[in-house]
Amino acid sequence: MYRIAPSLLSADFARLGEEVRNVVAAGADWIHFDVMDNHYVPNLTIGPLVCEAIRPHTEAPIDVHLMVKPVDRIIPDFARAGANVITFHPEASEHVDRSLGLIRDSGCQAGLVFNPATSLAWMDHVMDKLDVVLLMSVNPGFGGQKFIAGTLDKLREARARIDAYEARSGRRILLEIDGGVKIDNIAAIAAAGADTFVAGSAVFGAARGEDPHGYDTVIGALRAQLCGVAA
Ligand code: DX5
Ligand code: ZN
Repeated sequence: MYRIAPSLLSADFARLGEEVRNVVAAGADWIHFDVMDNHYVPNLTIGPLVCEAIRPHTEAPIDVHLMVKPVDRIIPDFARAGANVITFHPEASEHVDRSLGLIRDSGCQAGLVFNPATSLAWMDHVMDKLDVVLLMSVNPGFGGQKFIAGTLDKLREARARIDAYEARSGRRILLEIDGGVKIDNIAAIAAAGADTFVAGSAVFGAARGEDPHGYDTVIGALRAQLCGVAA
């Protein structure tokens, strides 16, 4: 019922295929793929060519988090490159409903990403087109930042909205959290309502030393924390 999604942002970019295989072998459920454009956010990362390059290395879903503006033009490129989930920031799209439709029409699951200061009201009129709601618990642009504590209240609010929607529609929407997720806070984050956990530095930082089983250890520890959380 819980998904752990290591963010490639903290992986070794010179060995991406191997990193993907290793985290999936260690129990990762999704691969989180952070796309930054040096325009919507002050950093520049990876695009559809890299998504296409890692696609043959795993059958795990690739979760593309677009931090780009504009949004729409790049959607078909990621769908062709093998993305399974595509999320974007509503402030970066001129027409949020259209962007969600484009993602779904391209055969992917669609989601909105909420920055720490972005109102959850953005989801109100598009619930039927959402497969994922992603709350940022840091400001987007960089890995390794500290979890913003106020996100727990926002998670509870998002959980309540999603529960109410699921009760009336019978349709499931995932609630994903991104930024500063660690072994010592994942249980509290799950208790606040998240079911899908992005972890960049917590996972990939773990195997930068000598430990050949670093990914198994950290993903196992994250999952062990989730065991005690009441659903
Ligand atoms: C930040 C990215 C995150 C980031 C998470 O803009 O969206 O996915 O890589 O990294 P950690 O887990 O290190 O906060
Ligand atoms: Zn992300």
